Parts: sequence; structure tokens; C-alpha cells
Amino acid sequence: MRVLGVETSCDETGVALYEAGVGIRAERLASQIAIHAAFGGVVPELASRDHIAKLLPMVAGVLEDAGVGLRDLDAIAYTAGPGLIGALMVGGSLASSLAYALKIPAIPVHHLEGHLLACMLEESAPEFPFLALLVSGGHSQLIEVAGVGRYRIIGETLDDAAGEAFDKVARLLGLPYPGGPELARLAESGDAQRFAFPRPLRNQGLDMSFSGLKTAVRLTIEPHRDANGALTDRVRADVAASFQAAVVDTLTGKCRQALEATGLERLVVAGGVGANRSLRASLADLGRRVGARVYYPRPALCTDNGAMIAYAGWCRRTGAEAGLPRIVAKPRWPLDELTPP
Ligand code: KG4
Ligand code: ZN
Repeated sequence: MRVLGVETSCDETGVALYEAGVGIRAERLASQIAIHAAFGGVVPELASRDHIAKLLPMVAGVLEDAGVGLRDLDAIAYTAGPGLIGALMVGGSLASSLAYALKIPAIPVHHLEGHLLACMLEESAPEFPFLALLVSGGHSQLIEVAGVGRYRIIGETLDDAAGEAFDKVARLLGLPYPGGPELARLAESGDAQRFAFPRPLRNQGLDMSFSGLKTAVRLTIEPHRDANGALTDRVRADVAASFQAAVVDTLTGKCRQALEATGLERLVVAGGVGANRSLRASLADLGRRVGARVYYPRPALCTDNGAMIAYAGWCRRTGAEAGLPRIVAKPRWPLDELTPP
């Protein structure tokens, strides 16, 4: 069975072809960084328009790369939420109309389920059940994953997501959008011991909070600004490293507590912040200390992509029927509303 996956929830257009028993046959990704950079963040209307321009040629390109035709597809999966409504509508409309024309099912996919299951595309895929640390731009959650669609959120952020904190602190440091990866790069040359930033809610249950940390960073750097508001490269790198250490420490501590509380022996890292090298190293170290196996998909499978949507769509193929589809686009969609396929 061949499933085409379409991801357009935010600022990346992703298309991939998944074939059961084979894996990802071809994939393409188009980033909108150049479009949004001048504005310091994602401009929703520009995101929608760029998805419209890129999507069809990318679908054609993926099919060409895989050496298959439209008629070889068995289903088309698309991100139905959560995300920007206009952006979701682009992928949903294209996937649904193409599926209708081909008389195959269109399968709406939950973006976070895509992130959660991305690890299954790796050679050493985890078995269920596992603990997932899902850290993206909009979400920071600890989830007990018993199977596809069997998710129990056991901890989450009370305010900002980890990725959001990375992006906001990056902006304070004058780094360009997208902030997270830029900040991580700057942190590599910084001294993580220089500034003692708080580890919010340490040892206080499984919930997280990152907005106080962001404020602490803001207050700490103010006195270091010169008359023009500029910071030295040294201060910027040290703030980046110290901030990253605080987030990594916090997330690692929460994972340790969650592994203990659930008795689970496998930890899966998912979502864009999962691409962070320091976080990956710290969680690998935690795994060694507590005897848990840690799985993290390669960075390209952590950040948004079409492959995870194609795969999650395949997991949800049962019951999906051809016919006039209803385009599903839900800007808000709690993960624990999902049920098993
Ligand atoms: O999962 P994702 O690609 O999109 C969402 O579903 O939100 O996550 C994007 C988030 C952004 O906040 C971005 O700054 C962050 O992940 N991110 C990183 C890194 N790469 C992406 N944060 C820290 N270090 C990175 N290397
Ligand atoms: Zn995402």
C-alpha cells in the first residue's frame, strides 16, 4: 500500500511517499524561512500562499523521484491540525480533491501524532508502550504511548512551549527567525555556567513552565546592553548556552521523573526541539543512568516533514474510504481526543 503524505500546518511544505513494507520511497521539503525572516516570525497569510505555490509541483516531484504515477497511490494523508487554519486548508483541499479524483481515501492526520510516530520510520523503531517527550514550537508534553491512538498526557507546559521559549530568547538575543536552531548554534561557543537561570518546577510533578525562564533571561541581559542596546558576542553566546542548559536540564529532569512514575523503559523524543544536540546528549545520558532505552529520530524527522504524515496516515488506513471527503482543518485539536484506529 502506498500513502502520499502532505504536511502544511505551519511554515514548511512537506510531501512524502510511504510504502508499507518498504518505508519512505521519496520525500521533499520546502522551507519558508526566506519568506518569513524579514518579519521575525511566521506570517500566516504568506505561509498559505507559499503552500499553494509549492504543493502541486512537490507532489509531482515526489512521485517522479519514487518512479510511481498518481494511479499507483492507495491513499493520501494530510495534516488536519493543529496548525494555522489557512495553511491547513491548503494541504487539506489539495489532498482531498486529489483523492476524490483518484477514487482513493483522504486521511486526515493529527500533526502531533505524526511527530509521535516518526520514530517508527527509523531502523531501530521502539515497541509500544513508551514514554514520549514531545517538544515542538507549540507543544511540550510528556505522553504515555500505549499504541497508535492510545495516548495519555501525563505532563505538559503550563505556559510557553519549549520551542517557543527558544524562539523568544533567540529574538531577545537578536537572532534571526527561526530562532531555535540559531540559538542552539550560538550556544555551542558559550559558557553554560556563566548565568544561573532557573529550572522551573524542578521536582514539582510532571508539568513544565518556560515563561518565567524567558523573563529571567530578559532581566539578566538588560544590564549587559550598551548605550545602543547591543550585547557583546561573548554575552550573547554565554546567555544562549546558559539558557539552553536550563531547558535541557528541566526536560531531562521531567523525563527522569516520568520514567520513574510510569515504570516505562523506553523514551522517545519527538518534535522540533528534539533536533537539539545538547538535549539528545543529555537524554542519552539519562537513559544510561536509569537503564532506559532512548530513541530519537534523525533531526529531519524531528522537525516538520511529510514522511511522518504519510506514515501516520498509513497507521490510520482502516476504515478510511474513498468518496466525497470532508476537508478536516482544526487549528486546535487536543492529542488525547484521538482514539485507536
Ligand atoms: O515540530 P516543529 O518543527 O514544528 C511545530 O510543530 O511546532 O518544531 C519547531 C520548533 C521551533 O520552536 C524551533 O525553534 C524548534 O522547534 N527547534 C529547535 C531546534 N530545531 C528546531 N530548538 C532548539 N534546538 C534546535 N536544534
Ligand atoms: Zn511540528
